[in-house]
Amino acid sequence: MPVTAAQPSSRWPEDVLRLNAVCPYYTMFPLDFPLRQLAASPQATRVLDPFCGRGTTLYAARLAGLPSVGIDINPVAAAIAQAKLVRVTPEAVVRLARRILEGGALGSVPEGEFWEWCYENRTLRELVTLREALFEVTTPTAAMLRAILLGILHGPRNKNFPSYLSNQMPRTYASKPAYAVNFWKKRDMRPVRVPALEVIERRATRLLEAAPLAHGGYVYQGDSVATLVGLRQRFDLVVTSPPYYGMRTYVADQWLRSWFLGGPPQVPYGTHGQIARQPNQDAFATALGEVWAATARRCHRGARLAIRFGALPSARTDPEKLLRDSLKKAKSGWVVTEVQQAGTSPKRTRQAEQFGKAGSAVEEIDLVAELIGVPR
Ligand SMILES: C[S@@+](CC[C@H](N)C(=O)[O-])C[C@H]1O[C@@H](n2cnc3c(N)ncnc32)[C@H](O)[C@@H]1O
Repeated sequence: MPVTAAQPSSRWPEDVLRLNAVCPYYTMFPLDFPLRQLAASPQATRVLDPFCGRGTTLYAARLAGLPSVGIDINPVAAAIAQAKLVRVTPEAVVRLARRILEGGALGSVPEGEFWEWCYENRTLRELVTLREALFEVTTPTAAMLRAILLGILHGPRNKNFPSYLSNQMPRTYASKPAYAVNFWKKRDMRPVRVPALEVIERRATRLLEAAPLAHGGYVYQGDSVATLVGLRQRFDLVVTSPPYYGMRTYVADQWLRSWFLGGPPQVPYGTHGQIARQPNQDAFATALGEVWAATARRCHRGARLAIRFGALPSARTDPEKLLRDSLKKAKSGWVVTEVQQAGTSPKRTRQAEQFGKAGSAVEEIDLVAELIGVPR
């Protein structure tokens, strides 16, 4: 069904948008960016985001009634994005969680001071059981439960009904263990019992009660170039935001969520195929160019490519020049039609704010290109 107009987020009832916030993710862009691109592409039938992060583009496509494909190399991003394409009832999610927990303890509990202080021991036992049971399960209900658990894994402690399973922590990123333990000890802040099932139930009800109809699609965890080569579908709208030059902390800052998905119980300091690991700007532009070339091969002629991009001040780079270089290097028929400062939307600060922690943000631009060549 072709979309006629994608409404800005302010036109949607708040409860319809809740699922988009199932779990925070570093450097997510505001929903209005992909919604604006959808509104500008009324002929679009299938949407792609080759750096999909938590799946904001996919959720915008869902709201517009379109199927979408997302790709991300970070397992945390892919797990959150998957939930953006799923429609399940809160009851189904709770039933699955209950069945797992009633089935008895699974997996081995990680040891050490961090774990003793981060979670009360019955809560940790439940978390480990849920983690173990959800490995490799690919049903829509499991995908939703997994994303919900990622979203409640850590966050601030509140007075009444708890919203997060952990001791006091930020919700957007996981503190490093030594820092966190020191913080809790200094304040004698012992972890309190948080029954996982209760938090899951409250969260699932809130997120899913008014979730919109799903319109299909798929999320691939992997490198965008390697994944695009294997795809068969063609796209006419691509909305994306590659990692900004100088941005390397995606994996380490999400270490607790990475653990939940099967990673090690400590901070992994690697860049794991992240495109921003490139040693210099020219290499980064070349690597990005390969993504735009692989994207062109999966697009129809006339396709629209909308990119939000920026750079950390510490990286001393001109984001527009870097992005134009990357499109030139792609040699695949993308012609730049618009460039503007990012965020004509009132929520524009959100993505930039996320970068604050890594060294205050960033000049951001929105660039639009059109595919005029014939994709090879
Ligand atoms: C700026 S974030 C995208 C955020 C997204 N727009 C959102 O709203 O959540 C860039 C993403 O690119 C991913 N990424 C980096 N290198 C990649 C690669 N080689 N292949 C696929 N994804 C990659 C990162 O893991 C990160 O999630």
